[in-house]
Amino acid sequence: MSKLWGGRFTKKTDQLVEEYTASIMFDKELAEEDIQGSLAHVTMLGKCGILPADDVEKIKDGLLKVQGMIRRGEMEFTIGDEDIHMNIEKALIDEIGPVGGKLHTGRSRNDQVATDMHLYLRKRVVEFVGLLGKLQEALIGQAKANVDTILPGYTHLQRAQPILFAHHLMAYVSMFQRDAERLMDSYKRINMLPLGAGALAGTTFPIDRHFVAQQLGFDGPYENSLDAVSDRDFIIEFLSNASMIMMHLSRFCEEMVLWSSTEFHFVELDDAFCTGSSIMPQKKNPDVAELVRGKTGRVYGNLFGLLTVLKSLPLAYNKDMQEDKEGMFDTVRTLQGALQLFAPMVSTMKVNKDRMRQAVNQDFSNATDIADYLVNKGLPFRQAHEVIGKTVLYCIQNNKFLLDLALEEFHQFSKLFEADIFDVLQPERVVNARNVYGGTAAGQVEGAIGRAEKTLEQT
Ligand code: ARG
Repeated sequence: MSKLWGGRFTKKTDQLVEEYTASIMFDKELAEEDIQGSLAHVTMLGKCGILPADDVEKIKDGLLKVQGMIRRGEMEFTIGDEDIHMNIEKALIDEIGPVGGKLHTGRSRNDQVATDMHLYLRKRVVEFVGLLGKLQEALIGQAKANVDTILPGYTHLQRAQPILFAHHLMAYVSMFQRDAERLMDSYKRINMLPLGAGALAGTTFPIDRHFVAQQLGFDGPYENSLDAVSDRDFIIEFLSNASMIMMHLSRFCEEMVLWSSTEFHFVELDDAFCTGSSIMPQKKNPDVAELVRGKTGRVYGNLFGLLTVLKSLPLAYNKDMQEDKEGMFDTVRTLQGALQLFAPMVSTMKVNKDRMRQAVNQDFSNATDIADYLVNKGLPFRQAHEVIGKTVLYCIQNNKFLLDLALEEFHQFSKLFEADIFDVLQPERVVNARNVYGGTAAGQVEGAIGRAEKTLEQT
């Protein structure tokens, strides 16, 4: 079978080389974008008088026919035609004859493939902002149902201070908001047109890059032709944004795994989002959370893979850059899967309010508050810290919690304690005492929920 670039060659390509260098197995995913770009390119060729109008019409008709074939699954992609660009061009020529060979006038696969990638990623970014929004909605829904649910907050995975479960969930809403904003910000760097850069230096034809950009909805063409064909930083930026999202998800996953264990038993994941064991009948495993946590590794890997491919690559296009695709597609699929599953997993999760509350009743997470109590009575904080440290030690040695102590016992440590200490130590009081902007007091958390809902509406 003859190659589109066969003229200079006297020998057939080695079969293994053909297989090794082909990308059609994976870049066929860019078929829609490739045709979209070609339609805009050929329209421009007509507008600029580079091709006669009837050639342009024939080529457009042909491209739409090829598009139909691909959509119906009738197109036979071949490794002999290497990649999606040449498979489509070949099919076009088969469809409309030699006039199809005029499509590639003033264009190279180098600016063509870069254009396809921009078109592809632009769509994905919009999609991911939407999916993040759905996840935020699910988190906000659970937060609203849990503005009175108190659980221990942790530092070093040791009980620290009681917090509202809603406050904990809203922390993730903030993280995913920044993730969405990062994606939206990246859009302007993705929404640029490489086409017209030619192989590397531009083209001798009087093309109109601004017209093509406008037709494809890009903000404008790349400023520099070398940059246009050799830039993959927009993909790296996406892979980095995706890694950040997976990192955030994986932290939540870890908490789900911990919290759904018998030891914590703070939440119960819905049966539909868990799987069983082939041997142990009692098991209900949080597989989705574990897998999202695990798949974070491959998403980081794809980021590092492409960073490393691009490292030290001389300008402009190098075949190495064909390696930009599989990792990107893999990251897109992995992220789609994670986000699609996460929202319903969160909204169907059962929150074990009583169990969380029980945990708070049996810990020292109210210790900071009696230190603050003594400070309010005039003791310097450092001394108050010492007094309460001793009080806690006494409790541990006597198998008690702070709320179990009698006022006389408190007095062993400081005469400043009065009967109101027992109110101060109540978990609700402890939570609501943190009434600063961004704090865990119920009023603050309700305010945060309201603001998050408003932001989501505007996104
Ligand atoms: N399949 C190639 C890629 O994905 C398209 C560009 C090929 N250009 C070239 N000069 N060989 O990078």
